[in-house]
Amino acid sequence: MKFITPWVAAVALTFAGSALAQAPIVIKFSHVVAVNTPKGKGADYFKKLAEERTGGKVKVEVYPNSSLFKDGEEMEALQLGSVQMLAPSVSKFGPLGAREFEIFDIPYIFDSYDDLHKVTDGPVGKALFKKLESKGITGLAYWANGFKDMSANKPLRKPEDMKGLKMRIQSSKVLGDEMKALGALPQVMAFSEVYQAMQTGVVDGSENPPSNFYTQKMHEVQKYLTLTDHGVIEYAVIVNKKFWDGLPADIRTTLEGAMKDATKYADDIAKKENDDALAAVKASGKTEIITLSPAEKAAWKKALLVVHKENESRVGKDTLDLVYKETGFKP
Ligand code: LMR
Repeated sequence: MKFITPWVAAVALTFAGSALAQAPIVIKFSHVVAVNTPKGKGADYFKKLAEERTGGKVKVEVYPNSSLFKDGEEMEALQLGSVQMLAPSVSKFGPLGAREFEIFDIPYIFDSYDDLHKVTDGPVGKALFKKLESKGITGLAYWANGFKDMSANKPLRKPEDMKGLKMRIQSSKVLGDEMKALGALPQVMAFSEVYQAMQTGVVDGSENPPSNFYTQKMHEVQKYLTLTDHGVIEYAVIVNKKFWDGLPADIRTTLEGAMKDATKYADDIAKKENDDALAAVKASGKTEIITLSPAEKAAWKKALLVVHKENESRVGKDTLDLVYKETGFKP
């Protein structure tokens, strides 16, 4: 017996050692939207590529729909390392102290997905990611969702129709100013709480791209959706810097490749996901969709111009001028 025990222990240790050595590197990827959205599908596609290309050395656990962390929690969780990857809307970086990201919230500054990509793939996008490093965060990519529309339980055709409405917004001062410029009352709220807030009347309406409006079932609690296209939902895919820098170099390179391809995929599907969602809202017959004439849309644009000036210093005048130049924005 006394000769067998050390052998058994040795064999057990060997197995334990190799099992430990082979344990996959786990990436928890938390987000707040539904699975059948540009971001939901992008996250799942990244998981597929990362696991395939690392031969299982990396395991990506995707937590959609605020199932792990909700707005207001996820950034801190990332900095603490309780989660390794997020893709929050760029409208949610103000509370982190990176208020320059709110450049994306300046109304009507983007006319197309191309405009968005020019800015995210250019010097502005890179400079914004640099601002995250001192916060222990590394920016990997930007993913598009789509253009936002206004919804409420009354028809919104003119900017003045927004007067006095309680409108849910993301945690962005620029979005707060946007609603105030329309005479509405901005209410910052976690995305996961919006449906119930609409149902109970805590808020009268909100602003969303069709993919979020439909997949969060807001068409069940909002009678009207006006296609204002007044702003965008854009995402920044971010990771915990210490975790990312600590990865074996070959694994990190493979993951960067997977992220690049997942980014192309997410951007390629974004417009169709929103078009299909708008068609589904129409087909539901639960929400009336209001299409604005060019003159009506110009009235919304004019009413929101003041937000540009008000936030010049917040987002940075140089950055604003550069984005005007890149997008060819005409007031
Ligand atoms: C919102 O809070 O409205 C959006 O940022 C949600 C999302 O991630 O698309």
